[in-house]
Formats: sequence, C-alpha cells, structure tokens
Amino acid sequence: MEASIVVLAGDGIGPEVTDEAKKVLDVVAQKFGHTFTYNHQLMGGCAIDKLGTSLPDETVAACLQADAVLLGAVGGPQWDLPTAADRPERGLLALRKALNLFANLRPVKLHPQLIRASAIKESVLEGTDMLVIRELTGGAYFGPRQEAGEAGYEAYDTMIYTRPEIERVVRVAAEAARGRRKKLTSVDKANVLASSRLWRRVTVEVMQEYPDVELEHVLVDAMAMHLIRRPATFDVVVSENLFGDILTDEASMLAGSMGMLPSASLGDKLNAHDLPLGLYEPIHGSAPDIAGKGIANPLATILSTAMLLRHSLGLEAEALAIEGAVDQVLNQGVRTADISDTGSETVATSVMGDLVARHI
Ligand code: IPM
Ligand code: MG
Repeated sequence: MEASIVVLAGDGIGPEVTDEAKKVLDVVAQKFGHTFTYNHQLMGGCAIDKLGTSLPDETVAACLQADAVLLGAVGGPQWDLPTAADRPERGLLALRKALNLFANLRPVKLHPQLIRASAIKESVLEGTDMLVIRELTGGAYFGPRQEAGEAGYEAYDTMIYTRPEIERVVRVAAEAARGRRKKLTSVDKANVLASSRLWRRVTVEVMQEYPDVELEHVLVDAMAMHLIRRPATFDVVVSENLFGDILTDEASMLAGSMGMLPSASLGDKLNAHDLPLGLYEPIHGSAPDIAGKGIANPLATILSTAMLLRHSLGLEAEALAIEGAVDQVLNQGVRTADISDTGSETVATSVMGDLVARHI
C-alpha cells in the first residue's frame, strides 16, 4: 500500500518522538511491503516563529490531502504570554476543528511490566484496560468566550453542546463498546451544568439503539475518584471535551506514565483509502524541560502510529506488530527515565526507538 502521512513534529520533544515513530513506521513499510511518504508541515510554536501563525493554511491543505496526520506536541514557555495574539495550542485546536475530528480515542491500558512504575497500588491497577473517548470539537474549548483584555477584570468561556454533537460521539463510543466488553460509562456534571443535562438526555436516547451495551452515568468529580479506586471496572468511557482532557491526564498514571498513552482523533472525513482521516498524537505535551536532552519516552508516539495504521490505513497486522514490539522491549526491561523503577538502567529516546524497530 502507498500512504501519505503529514508529520507535524511541533515543539519541545515533538521532533524527538516523531523521529522515533517514523523510524518504526519505516521498518513496518519495509517488512510488510508498503510505501509511506512523509510530508513535514509546521504547526504550533514553530509555525508562529517561522510563518507568524500557529496554523498556516498550507498545513491545513496538506492535512486534508493526506491519509493520516502524525503529531508530536506543541507549546512552550516562550509562547506563553497571557496577552499573546496567537499560541501554539490554538493551532492544534483549529486543526482539530478544520478536520472535524470530533472523537478522540485514548486507550488506557496497563502494560503489566510497568505496574510498578505507577504511583498507584498494584492491587488497584490490575486488569486496567479502558478506552476513553473524549469529545474534541465542542464544549468550553470552542464556545463563545471573552478575554479579559487590558482591564483584566472579567473573562468567560462557554460550555456549549448541541444534540448532534453529543449524538455522534456517543455513537462512536457505543460502537467501540460493542467491540469490547459492552459497557459504557458516560461522564458529566448533570447535577450542576445545563450542557451536561442535555449530554445525559441525548446519551440515554442514543443508547436505546444499543440495548446490548450497559450504560452507567458517573459525575465527573466522582469519576476523578473512581478512576484511581476501581480503574479495572471501566470499559469505554465517554465525556465532553474539557472533562476528557483532565480525566485522561489522570488516567495516564494508571498506565505508569504520560509517556505511554497514544491517541487517535477521528471525524467524518475519509482519506483516499476510504478510511477515516485521523490525527494521531501522544497525549503528553511538549515537555520543554526535557526537550533536546534525548531522554523523552517515544512509546506514546510509536503506539500512536499503531493506531494510525489500524484506523486510517486498515493495517491491523502491522499495528499489532508495533504493539507487540513495544511489549517485547518492555519485557526485556528496557526503560526510558519516566517509566524506570528505582535502580533500573534507562535508555535514550533514540535507543528506545531503535529497539522497538528491531523487534518489528
Ligand atoms: C491534549 C492537550 C491539548 C488539549 C492542548 C495542548 C491544547 O492537553 O491534547 O490533551 O487541551 O486538548
Ligand atoms: Mg490534555
């Protein structure tokens, strides 16, 4: 198969982790007889510096033409001024919107080899394997807002949802649950927020079409607790944008490190293979504190490429090859600093990438 992948390396550790992911993809291409071409584009802080905007038009155009988009991370302190007209994160949000990527799949799976890397007790973690589906193009991220401006007195964001926005993401979650353990947990704050009451109502309605999937509603504050109290009881979790952002950082601790969690953002646009045009990225940020040191964990990005092969190219065996290679490398005790147990030797970003590539 021939596939064209737009690479948005971004800022901070972004270029380091996407390099390792490409290394692994290249070996997959060679072993399985595919041709992957990479089209590097600017987005985020690097785009502000070079082109004066966090999301250049040519980047959007390239993504719309591609089969899939691989993203490293965006952001950094140099672009973090409160009064800045543009910021790296705006580029990412605008890209999600431009590609209509409304469903963000964040699988949270504990690699048993890393059970001791987590801050949470082993007995609680055992059996953790959930898929969080975060709504990605609505809510407070995109609702009407008012910046505080010069006066710095009042500012607001609006958490707004429409029925179709809720319906389509709940359907994605219900379908995913059907292919898994048939349980869906919908997270909201229906005891306080109007948008959450609509969320719950629409979720109940949609789920009538899925009588084989068990539905539970959990309030977001309680969910923050249950995630670290009974993580293994969750199968598919669906939530609005901001709640999903917060809960998946928390959930990453169940997998040992933020450096382990991949993600796929999917919408309704199809690529040349008639599969979803997706954006694939680790859930972690640009980690400016360790950028350029060669110590970042590339596994979340490498695992994101497995999701890319699966969802945007339909290459399941190839995706499994990557996931299997990551497993084997972890079995051998190879660790980057973020997932090392006290005492174990750690390897550099590029060594981790080499070892995964070698096991494909
Ligand atoms: C994420 C990130 C982004 C978000 C930032 C970088 C805009 O935290 O993908 O989880 O808030 O969605
Ligand atoms: Mg986040």
